[in-house]
Amino acid sequence: MAEIIDGREIARKLDEKTGAEIKAMLDAGQRRPGLAVILVGEDPASQVYVSRKIKACERVGIESSEYRLPADTGQDELLALIGRLNDDANVHGILCQVPLPPQIDTRLVLLAIDPAKDVDGFHPMNAGLLFTGSEGLVACTPSGVIHLLKSVVPDPTGMDALVIGRSNIVGKPVAMLLLNEGCTVTIAHSKTRNLPEIARRSDIIVAASGIAEMVKGGWVKPGAVLLDVGITRVRGENGKDRLVGDIAFDEVQHAGAVTPVPGGVGPMTIACLLANTVRAAKALDRGKARAPAA
Ligand code: GUN
Repeated sequence: MAEIIDGREIARKLDEKTGAEIKAMLDAGQRRPGLAVILVGEDPASQVYVSRKIKACERVGIESSEYRLPADTGQDELLALIGRLNDDANVHGILCQVPLPPQIDTRLVLLAIDPAKDVDGFHPMNAGLLFTGSEGLVACTPSGVIHLLKSVVPDPTGMDALVIGRSNIVGKPVAMLLLNEGCTVTIAHSKTRNLPEIARRSDIIVAASGIAEMVKGGWVKPGAVLLDVGITRVRGENGKDRLVGDIAFDEVQHAGAVTPVPGGVGPMTIACLLANTVRAAKALDRGKARAPAA
C-alpha cells in the first residue's frame, strides 16, 4: 500500500518554523516581514488563492497588504504600483497573481518586480540563479514538491525522475531542483513519445500536465514516489463535484508514496511562499546593515 504524503501536516510544520523565525526577527528588533499581494481582475480561482495567501500570512505573523485592481487596469498603472512597492521598505515580498488580463504583458510585470522581493521566484534573475545552482528565491510549488519528496526520500541522488509538464512556473523549475538534487531528469510534455514507457522506468514522477488523472496505474513502477501538482474539478458518478489530480490516485496502491489531491502539494505552495517572504526579509535587512551610512 502506497504511503500517503500528508502535505497539510508537512506545511503546518514548515509554517511553525516560519512563525518561530519571525518571532526571533522581532525579538532582535527587526522589522516584521511584509508581503504585498496584487490581484488584477476577478478570476474566481485566483480570488480563492489570494485569499488563502492573505490568511496564511496572518497565521504566521507576516504583515500582508492586498491590492485588488479592476480587470481593465492598464499595464502602466500596474507597473507604477510595483515600482512603489519595490521602494517600500515595509514590503519584503511582492506577488502578482497570474494569469493577468490580456492587455497586460505578464513578462514585463514579472521583470519589474525587484528580484530581491520576488517571493514567487518567477523573475528571470531568480530563474537563472536556480539554473546555475545558486541561492535565489525559488518558485513555491516546485520548492514544495522537493520538500515533500525529501520527506520520504531524504537523499534522491541518482534516482530517475520524470517531470510531466514544461511550464515556467512548475515543470522547468522543478526539473532544475531535481537535477540539483542529483537526479537524472526527463522532462516530458505534450509532444513526448512513449510517455507510459518512460514513466514505468522512473523512480520519481512529478505530474504537472494539468490533465486530470493522466498518469494511470499501469504507468507506475512499484515503489515509485509520485508527486501530483494537478488539481481539476470533475463531476463524479453521484453527480457531485470532486477534486482530482493528474495521477489516477485509486490505481497507484503499488507506488512507494503518493501525494493526495487535495492535501498534498497545494498546502506546500503557500507554506513555501511564507518561508520565501521571511527569507527575502532577512536578506533585505542584511543588505541594509551592510549599506554605508548616509
Ligand atoms: N497562479 C497560479 N499559481 C501561482 C503562484 O504560485 N503565484 C502567482 N503569482 N500566481 C499564480
